[in-house]
Amino acid sequence: MCGIVGYIGSKRAYPILIKGLSRLEYRGYDSAGVALLEDGKLNVFKRQGKVLDLTNFVADNPTSGTVGIGHTRWATHGLPNDINAHPHTSGDGSITLVHNGIIENYDILKKELIKRGHTFKSETDTEVLVHLIEDIKEKSGVSLAEAVRIALNEVHGAYAIVVISPEEPNKIIAAKKSSPLVIGMGEDEYYLASDATPIVEYTKNVVYLEDEQIAIIDRENGLRIISISNKEVSPYVQELEMQLEELEKGGYEHFMLKEIYEQPRAIHDSFRGRLNAKEGWVSLGGIKDYEDQIAKANRIIIIACGTSWHAALVAEYYFEDLARIPVEVEYASEFRYRNPIIRKDDVVIAISQSGETADTLAALKMAKERGATLLGIVNVVGSTISRVTDAGSYTHAGPEIGVASTKAFTTQLVLLAMMALSIGHKRGTIEDEKFQTLLDELEALPEKIEKLLKSDDYIREVSTIYKDAQNALYLGRGSSFPIALEGALKLKEISYIHAEGYPAAEMKHGPIALIDENMPVFVIATHGENYEKVVSNIQEVKARKGKLIAIVSKGDTMVREIADHVIEIPISDEFVVPILATIPFQLISYHIAVMRECNVDQPRNLAKSVTVE
Ligand code: G6P
Repeated sequence: MCGIVGYIGSKRAYPILIKGLSRLEYRGYDSAGVALLEDGKLNVFKRQGKVLDLTNFVADNPTSGTVGIGHTRWATHGLPNDINAHPHTSGDGSITLVHNGIIENYDILKKELIKRGHTFKSETDTEVLVHLIEDIKEKSGVSLAEAVRIALNEVHGAYAIVVISPEEPNKIIAAKKSSPLVIGMGEDEYYLASDATPIVEYTKNVVYLEDEQIAIIDRENGLRIISISNKEVSPYVQELEMQLEELEKGGYEHFMLKEIYEQPRAIHDSFRGRLNAKEGWVSLGGIKDYEDQIAKANRIIIIACGTSWHAALVAEYYFEDLARIPVEVEYASEFRYRNPIIRKDDVVIAISQSGETADTLAALKMAKERGATLLGIVNVVGSTISRVTDAGSYTHAGPEIGVASTKAFTTQLVLLAMMALSIGHKRGTIEDEKFQTLLDELEALPEKIEKLLKSDDYIREVSTIYKDAQNALYLGRGSSFPIALEGALKLKEISYIHAEGYPAAEMKHGPIALIDENMPVFVIATHGENYEKVVSNIQEVKARKGKLIAIVSKGDTMVREIADHVIEIPISDEFVVPILATIPFQLISYHIAVMRECNVDQPRNLAKSVTVE
């Protein structure tokens, strides 16, 4: 979703801002803009479309200023057009700002400002905020920082903002509540961004602004942080772990493909220091102090959105089967609005790649108020969810740039598997032999995925046959059912083919009506407890002339006879099948999207990090 950048220092701001905006493109956006301070003047350029459209528009205009802000906008209030694009400027042209979030009381504020003579150009909530700051500054004659502070006390909602003014040309003012903002500390220069990706090539020292804090960055006096209630805060500088190479495509055509191929390495990184099958142990350092509490939990509630919610569904099988603790899986957006029963001995686990998803964050805050213990399974180090939870574990997948989640999902699954194993072992709900087998199965995953990726050419061939499908059905049973949901989500989000995931046995209660010779049905039919039941389900598909693409265990013969195509995965315990079966589904959706000439890494209307509810 919206991305913010800012720069103040001795270098030309424009190329830094543009590069920063390109780094944030992965978040999803529909327009972009920059504002530069130059010789006491404010130059604002904004354009619907991509960052490239913005640079073409700016062309030979003056861009030599050393202070500037930039924005990629994902439309919420008002159409994606040039006028609604950020930065937004006050009526007298003396203040401009970029904003990520939603000002919920914008309508009331706007009406009051109109009464006081303000006129508005855009349909956005953001323009109201900049007029409010101008109004306060004019009326009370205070500094820009103070006007921002007073204004923020009047707004409800979420904001990360960066503000500049030609009247105070050596300053940048930034603030945040609920939407993220990171400040990079260079030598006599400062970088601001929605996440660390635009910053890492310049400095590794960063300050994550906390909610309701305002950063006042002055060319002379450096960084000062105050709260919106005007209390001094001492900045806490942290070091970034991110490497610049992780943000490049590294020879792959798309980030998504790179990230699919990175999974053996990412899973290996998730295991590091946490799992040793030879020595027979698994231990998650981040939750060690909370293990007793989890083991004694009355219930585990897992909250998440999107692909992370699918990981939660698999985790329900893991925790209930291995640790015998009841689990409830909730969409964060629903959970937060339905007055759920949360008790003090409940453990709430939030799963989030970005660690910034607004609904997940809000649901966590509600659970905290009701006394639950909060744990986070998060990928982005230092993100808000990792900071608001009592404890947690990072997935260590590395930056995920493709909007469609791949390596973040499979590392979430391995982390949740490790957690369930460790808690089950502690509770004595897993027999020693099974515990050891499952440790071995987990540890073998990177190698098995390497092997599986070797079938990519064949998977591409199969994908070619179904690239023009209009609908697709994905089926699975048990812990593979969430993988059917994930397979369907992957296909629809990047190739725009309508797809549905269903428990294989449920198909006859509805989707079977859709099956004909044009309907591809992707099914997980690996050896295991439900194998024969799934075989019966796929016979039902075949009897209605559906096209069957089955993921089977290596050497399978029974499904091979029925299916149109089979994709083999290495023989494995059912426990790790969801992780392995995910890979062919990722590759199928990737290839189909490429063949349909879709924008694989930045699918239309989608955002990587959904920072509004
Ligand atoms: C967006 C992304 C998905 C992601 C979901 C939850 O919809 O496009 O890929 O699964 O948000 O995000 P999170 O960062 O909380 O995992």
